[in-house]
This record gives sequence, structure tokens and C-alpha cells, in this order.
Amino acid sequence: MFQTRLTELLGVEYPIIGGAMAYLSTAKLAAAVSNAGGFGLIAAVTCESKDDLREQIRTCRQLTDKPFGVNIALITRDPNRIVEDMEVVVEEKVKFVETAALNPTSYIEQLKEAGITVLHKCATVRHAKSAERAGIDAVTLVGYEAAGHTGLDDLPLSIMVPQAVDSLKIPVIAAGGVGDGRAFVSALALGASGVQIGTRLMASHECPASDAFKDWLVQTQTTDTVYIERSLNRAYRVRRNEAAEKVLELEKKGASMLELLPYIGGERLRAVLFEGDVEAGVVACGPVAGLVEDVVSVKEIIDRIISQARDIVERLHST
Ligand SMILES: Cc1cc2nc3c(=O)[nH]c(=O)nc-3n(C[C@H](O)[C@H](O)[C@H](O)COP(=O)(O)O)c2cc1C
Repeated sequence: MFQTRLTELLGVEYPIIGGAMAYLSTAKLAAAVSNAGGFGLIAAVTCESKDDLREQIRTCRQLTDKPFGVNIALITRDPNRIVEDMEVVVEEKVKFVETAALNPTSYIEQLKEAGITVLHKCATVRHAKSAERAGIDAVTLVGYEAAGHTGLDDLPLSIMVPQAVDSLKIPVIAAGGVGDGRAFVSALALGASGVQIGTRLMASHECPASDAFKDWLVQTQTTDTVYIERSLNRAYRVRRNEAAEKVLELEKKGASMLELLPYIGGERLRAVLFEGDVEAGVVACGPVAGLVEDVVSVKEIIDRIISQARDIVERLHST
């Protein structure tokens, strides 16, 4: 029922991509998504070194014989690491890469020459068009609903996806706010060939975060997220907590990115995710967390999405 251009491109059962999440999208989580019929992504940004990335790719292959990919963020890191990560995916004969954030043009040739299918994730239709011109195979559009960096246009997927499918030839994937079958069907109804989910997957058994973090996530209300980094011309949607409040206070005083960095990423993020210190640092989180009521397996999450989506489609047919 849900075969699309994306399932065809990726060779998967369902058009559901497990979005790369820094520190969380390890081989284990990626393989769980792929084994459940979706498409898992390993976040290269999580890997300490290129050898660590190589190890994650090899581990993922041991955990699943299904397709999976590697997400390579083109910002927030030492540019040499990006070059090294590109080399590793080519050497390891990874079949799918998702680049994210900045313009992927300078990497496309290298990846395509190695026979890699390239997806790119961005937050505006304008950027999607330029990535299409550069030769990518599919684009993930991040809506205002999403966790993490969502761009400055503040446009929801209900606007962006129709605009994108009208102006692009490649498949469009909707990222943001998808936690159940209703949002999944609505993304397909808008013209998307699939969805990418992040926040919902954090409340899964296979997500490496601590139980304390997952409990906190389940308690999150839809109104508990907040944007930071706006004063620096970026938009980063995170869970509201003490660290996020501190960042907002510093931004009001005109703080630079360097001054905000201690609260973003690194040790403090590890403390939030793995040590139960949920106020210590900022963590990306979408408002869909407010709809998450339990921690279950990745397979259960995907099965529920598909089963609810089937019911919706059947109901629509019969009315
Ligand atoms: C904790 C967390 C970390 C994330 N880290 C990254 C990242 O490193 N690179 C990236 O491209 N997207 C990252 N994302 C975005 C997700 O891949 C995905 O696109 C997004 O979560 C989709 O929106 P949703 O959370 O509403 O489902 C992150 C999301 C979360 C929740």
C-alpha cells in the first residue's frame, strides 16, 4: 500500500527514514530501523574518528542485511573530518549517503562516481532546487515542525512539501512532526514520497539514551520546545530546559556562538542523553514529543505507524 518512489530508490518496505541524531544514531539504532522495514541512518557526526565511522558501518552490516545509509552533516565539524567521512563511505562501499545542511555540490561527483545514491537534507525549497541541480537523488525537507535546525523561513511541511513536489523532479521526503500514522498519511497526501522521523525514535528501546532521558521525553508536552540561536541567524528547536533558558538569556545580551557553545553539544549534551542530567545542556527535540506516550521498540513504532496509516487509507476509501 505504501510503495513510493522512495521505497523503490532505497529498496525498503516502508517509506520511513530514521533521521540521523547526533550521539544517538549508532549502528544499533540504524539497523533497528532498517530491520523494521524502514531506512536507518548512521550519524557520522557521532563518530569520534574516521575509524569509528568505519566500525559503525561494519557493525550495522552485521546487525542487518537491509539497506541503510550514513548521514554526513556538512557543518559543525572540522572540515577535514567531512573529507575523511566521504572517503570512508566510498571505501566501505556504502550504498546511500545523506548529506545535510550546507550545499552538497562539491561532494556529489565523488559520491556518484562511487555509485552512491545521494540524499540531501535541507530546510528550504530553494536549497532543495539547487541540490537537485547538483545531482542528488532525493531531498529531505525539514519543516518548522521538526527537531533541530529548521532554517529561518518557519514554514510548515503543509506549505513546503506541495511547493517542493510542484517544482522538483526528484522524490521529496518530509521531516518533522511525524510520530504516528496520521502524520505519515498526511505527508504522503501532501505529495511526499516518504517521511523522516527523529524525535519519536528517541523513545525507543534501541535508542542508546538513558531511561531517565526517555522518561523525560515521554513527559514532554507539545509546548515544551523552544527555538534558540535565532539571534545568530539560525533556528535550532530544542527541549525547553535550564540550559536552553540560559542560552536565550545569553542571546538577549548579544552573546556570540562561541559563548553559547558550552551549552550546546559536547559534554553537556552527553550528560542530558546518557547521565540523566536533563537540565545540563540543550538537546534537539520536536513538539511531536508531546504526542509520545511510551517507550517501545523501533519495530513497534514503525508497525504502529503503518497499521494506523492503513486504517486511515481504508476509512478514506470507504467514505
Ligand atoms: C536529538 C536529535 C539530534 C539530531 N541530530 C541531527 C544531526 O546530527 N544531523 C541531522 O541532519 N539531523 C539531526 N536531527 C534531525 C533529525 O534527523 C530529523 O530530521 C528530525 O528530528 C525530524 O523531525 P522530528 O524530530 O519532528 O521527527 C536531530 C534530531 C534530534 C531529535
